[in-house]
Amino acid sequence: MNILLLGGGGREHALAWKMAASPLTDRLYCAPGNAGIAREAECVDLDIADHAAVIGFCRDQRIDFVVVGPEGPLCAGIVDDMESAGIKAFGPSHAAARLEGSKGFTKDLCRANGIPTADYQRFRTADQAKAYVRTRGTPIVVKADGLAAGKGVVVARTLAEADDAIDMILGGDLGEAGTELVVEEFLDGEEASFFALCDGETALPLASAQDHKRAFDGDTGPNTGGMGAYSPAPVVDPALSARVIAEIVRPTLSAMKALGTPYKGVLYAGLMITAGGPKLIEYNVRFGDPECQVLMPRLLSDLLPALLASRDGVLKSVDLRWRSDAALGVVMAAKGYPGSYAKGSVIEGLDPAAAVEGVEIFHAGTREDGGRILANGGRVLNVIALGANVTQARDRAYQAVSRINWPGGFCRHDIGWRAVEREKIK
Ligand code: AMP
Ligand code: GLY
Repeated sequence: MNILLLGGGGREHALAWKMAASPLTDRLYCAPGNAGIAREAECVDLDIADHAAVIGFCRDQRIDFVVVGPEGPLCAGIVDDMESAGIKAFGPSHAAARLEGSKGFTKDLCRANGIPTADYQRFRTADQAKAYVRTRGTPIVVKADGLAAGKGVVVARTLAEADDAIDMILGGDLGEAGTELVVEEFLDGEEASFFALCDGETALPLASAQDHKRAFDGDTGPNTGGMGAYSPAPVVDPALSARVIAEIVRPTLSAMKALGTPYKGVLYAGLMITAGGPKLIEYNVRFGDPECQVLMPRLLSDLLPALLASRDGVLKSVDLRWRSDAALGVVMAAKGYPGSYAKGSVIEGLDPAAAVEGVEIFHAGTREDGGRILANGGRVLNVIALGANVTQARDRAYQAVSRINWPGGFCRHDIGWRAVEREKIK
């Protein structure tokens, strides 16, 4: 098969790496890709927001299957456009992608179907939102309704912080994403991510993973897209998994089907494990980044037939096998991220780093220039290692990080700390 992968981050490098290894793959293209992806796929300079251009490319290159990495194109309806043009595509339709594209939509769906989530109200005017905050007290959470690249959520500790968040979101700072907001109850507990492949009816759970969203050690500093991840996540044990499927994922699939917008693709549930059980924080309609980068090295089975089965509605017949090894990934980001940062600094030492046992380096934001690898984004590299447990995977990943010479970058030094603490107790 000829495959086109859309996206150019670490998640897409991991997907490209996995799909390049499939015996079903003839040619693998990636748009726009990056310097690391270029080793697995032919990178093409396509504007993926231009759906007609993507369709044209697919026709010219006889693409059999399009795999969409990021949420932007999914929420913009690229899967609908591909399918209307007769090209198979992996991921949810425009209508089904509302599970990530509109927090209000998802909250209403939860309320209507008894899916456990934080109590909430939706608002379009600041005065009403502020009045509601006062009836609920703090801490409280304020969220832009639409896609805001991680900038749309504020956990407010004080009324003043909540008011500022409401003004920021409805004041237009986030554009379209902020025409409406959700104010919701603060949930206390440990966070976990749960991933399932879906085909409209069936949910096939993937391995568990957990990420670290804060920029600095000790889970401090600003929220980011994710500074590292590990899999499995010890907090997601089989009993919890069964509850998440029964109480959250299955009712969501049934509700989406009943609305006439069946959900296909990866469903990524961000969860809070509270004293009262798992509650949905939010849905994403794609693989997590950097969680995907720790899932792919653990996946023994071929990914491609599973993605095709999701699209074709035959996931029932698919069974995925996973290594028992743990995987841990450290994100190396440009200094300044998630604020402003410089592009173009030189990265050296990638080959010796990749030579550490169990290590795979996925590129998140790089470009090549005359044989040199240059930083070309906020999150730049994902250093992933497999190990017998999370502790060994962590040691290998940081050994590899220490071989990378990139003065323009930084990373956290405590990725996986919760799982490592748990392994000490064992
Ligand atoms: P989200 O983009 O919705 O995943 O939110 C970003 C982060 O904000 C989450 O990973 C949580 O750490 C935090 N968060 C979001 N909603 C809540 C909530 N209701 N209670 C506590 N923390 C939350
Ligand atoms: N790692 C968080 C995300 O992909 O949204």
